[in-house]
Amino acid sequence: MQRQALSWRRQGLKIGFVPTMGYLHAGHVSLIRRARRAVGAAGRVVVSIYVNPTQFAPTEDLSKYPRDLAGDLERCREAGADAVLVPNDASMYPGRDEGRYSTYVVEERLTRRMEGESRPTHFRGVTTVVAKLFLLVQPAVAVFGAKDWQQASVIRRMVADLCFPVRVIVAPTVRERDGLAMSSRNKYLDSDQRTQATVLWRALQLVSARVREAAGRGVPVGRLQREVAKLVAKESQARLDYVAFFHPETLEPVTRVGAGVRVALAVYVGATRLIDNAGV
Ligand code: PAJ
Repeated sequence: MQRQALSWRRQGLKIGFVPTMGYLHAGHVSLIRRARRAVGAAGRVVVSIYVNPTQFAPTEDLSKYPRDLAGDLERCREAGADAVLVPNDASMYPGRDEGRYSTYVVEERLTRRMEGESRPTHFRGVTTVVAKLFLLVQPAVAVFGAKDWQQASVIRRMVADLCFPVRVIVAPTVRERDGLAMSSRNKYLDSDQRTQATVLWRALQLVSARVREAAGRGVPVGRLQREVAKLVAKESQARLDYVAFFHPETLEPVTRVGAGVRVALAVYVGATRLIDNAGV
């Protein structure tokens, strides 16, 4: 991959990159199309499909994460990708099983709260694999989804801090008709859970409505947290992990919620952990 990418760059071809863990849905496809738009018809669009073990905790769903390589390759082709990188663990983390792999990339500030608090080793895995993928694919542009807002912010920070010559684009969240954000993990939900899972979207809309009603005065965070907790508690299979209100770029928590603030939440629906976020 790296040899191919360096050769493309020597020829003056711009590379656009979309890293994924596969089981591709319309959200991923929108990122691939966005990458094409960014590099133009003459550019090269690369998609990676790799279920990165270092971003999963031992108790998480690594072994049962859904996979469909044949379907994914078809979707990449349809979306206009030029190349799909499907690395294996031995090439990404040489010697990891024997304890010889020992180099990681760590962002230390934006990863402290929300997903980083609930999943302490998660972002170290994400930044490490994305840094490695950037070195393999040599992109001028990389596209991430707003669905994982904190992840996109952490990647932006890493790119700035480590001087990666990569422009990061964050593309909008693609949703099902009932508002549920598309996610490979939605596959885990049975039909009852699938219905209850819309509570994430309903919670985000409830927050926006309350802020609108306050007509510029802002709403105290505590009140919104209680309302969201109450809404989630009405669903028998749903359990709120966190709901957070923060500045969209610094991710610093706010105490009053008004226009421009971002809200993110994580909810267990049965055993499946789902996340979503929106601007208010
Ligand atoms: P994955 O969950 O497969 O997501 C790959 C990319 O698709 C991420 O940038 C994510 O934000 C975006 N995405 C997921 N659902 C989306 C939706 N409904 N609408 C728009 N974009 C969506 O995120 C990862 O993989 C991994 O952490 C990765 C960055 C590949 C590193 O391993």
